[in-house]
Amino acid sequence: MANEAKKTATLSIEGAAEPIELPIYGGSEGPDVIDVGKLTSQGYFTYDPGFVSTASCESEITYIDGDQGILLHRGYPIDQLAEQSNHLELCYLLLNGHLPNKAENDQFVHTIKNHTMVHEQLRHFFQGFRRDAHPMAIMCGVTGALSAFYHDSLDIDNPEHRTITAHRLIAKMPTLAAMSYKHSLGQPFMYPRNDLSYAENFLHMMFATPCEDYVVSPTLARAMDRIFLLHADHEQNASTSTVRLAGSTGANPFACVAAGIAALWGPSHGGANEAVLTMLNEIGSVDNIDTYIKKAKDPNDPFRIMGFGHRVYKNYDPRAKVMQQTCHEVLGELGVEDDPILKMAQRLEQIALEDEYFVSKRLYPNVDFYSGIILKAIGIPVEMFTGIFATGRTPGWIAHWNEMVSHPYKIGRPRQLYKGSTQRDYVAIESR
Ligand code: SDX
Repeated sequence: MANEAKKTATLSIEGAAEPIELPIYGGSEGPDVIDVGKLTSQGYFTYDPGFVSTASCESEITYIDGDQGILLHRGYPIDQLAEQSNHLELCYLLLNGHLPNKAENDQFVHTIKNHTMVHEQLRHFFQGFRRDAHPMAIMCGVTGALSAFYHDSLDIDNPEHRTITAHRLIAKMPTLAAMSYKHSLGQPFMYPRNDLSYAENFLHMMFATPCEDYVVSPTLARAMDRIFLLHADHEQNASTSTVRLAGSTGANPFACVAAGIAALWGPSHGGANEAVLTMLNEIGSVDNIDTYIKKAKDPNDPFRIMGFGHRVYKNYDPRAKVMQQTCHEVLGELGVEDDPILKMAQRLEQIALEDEYFVSKRLYPNVDFYSGIILKAIGIPVEMFTGIFATGRTPGWIAHWNEMVSHPYKIGRPRQLYKGSTQRDYVAIESR
């Protein structure tokens, strides 16, 4: 995807004979970018810890406007997709760049349904994990191990191999997540069922047993599908950037997605949904909220309000709005709208949004603030929350990986500002 400079930045450096001319490129939306590639030849690196001001790549998949609270997947607004689409249709859109017609959609759903089983031998990998292993530890391990079963489709330069791998990962992630849960219970794994939708099948594999079926409630299935949909992709977030960086070395896509799962696990990223529930349980009562708000504002206290704040959204996370509405729908239909945890979350949100500290730092609820409350209402255990985020995010990860490897790319290799020891001679131990 070649770029044409729309204008030029001139960098004048004190003491340099000539200023440095840097090309500026524009995209279809969002800020222009300054190509700093030639700085190295001039003896400089850019310096941007946390990549706050760095565009790592070009992409056509997802656009976010943090100030306006806009999230578009291939140009379609997230609120319209949440209201009118479903997770598998969004998977198709992310992978292919357009909404499927009926024949394309039916074929895609059929394909995904026919890849939901995992190799029977993969079941033995689970025996190596303790019953109390965190599901994300298991999902990291078994997702990477998937590559050991698909030597027939690991040529990343073969478009057909990339397509079948994308389908396998989207299809198998719910199966692996449910198996991680069943392992923790000591219950038998449940095979996927092709007569069920993607979300229904996941709930079936989570809660059915060989002794009795699990009748999937349409309300919970719809809520589960929307949770997957709202987590499907989010531009160059930490885990997607990890998948891209791993992919830039030519690693196979199963290994790249396993790296993405590892990055997502952190409480500052996908682990936040689990951390929100842990935090709400720690706060314990609406009466304690003020104490915790004070802790969150104290620069010397590491405590943060989990589910609040975002690197990009300095306005409401549009997914949080949809999640909040879904939360009310699900709890209302389940008759638990008086859930004390929900009441505490709503009170915490109200206080935080009126507090000068949060207002001045533009901290709003993010996608993780309400998702945990919905998952809890569905009956999902807290330790499974991030595994569900990983399941929902799989199409995003694999769409970005595919976009990168299907175009010319370079291995990702950042540099540094070195502040260590300058060269010194080795000293024999007798002389130290
Ligand atoms: C996800 O990138 C993505 O797109 C991620 C994601 C996706 O879909 O992939 O959207 C999913 O990861 C959502 C974020 C989930 N994480 C949390 O909810 C954890 C709590 N939030 C924070 O840790 C924090 O807000 C981050 C990590 C999300 C963003 O951190 P930044 O952009 O590096 O901002 P920062 O940490 O520098 O915070 C700016 C200021 C700081 O104060 P000062 O140093 O300026 O004085 O705001 C404060 C922070 O102390 N702050 C908070 C806070 N979040 C930021 N203070 C209290 N509570 C919080 N939650």
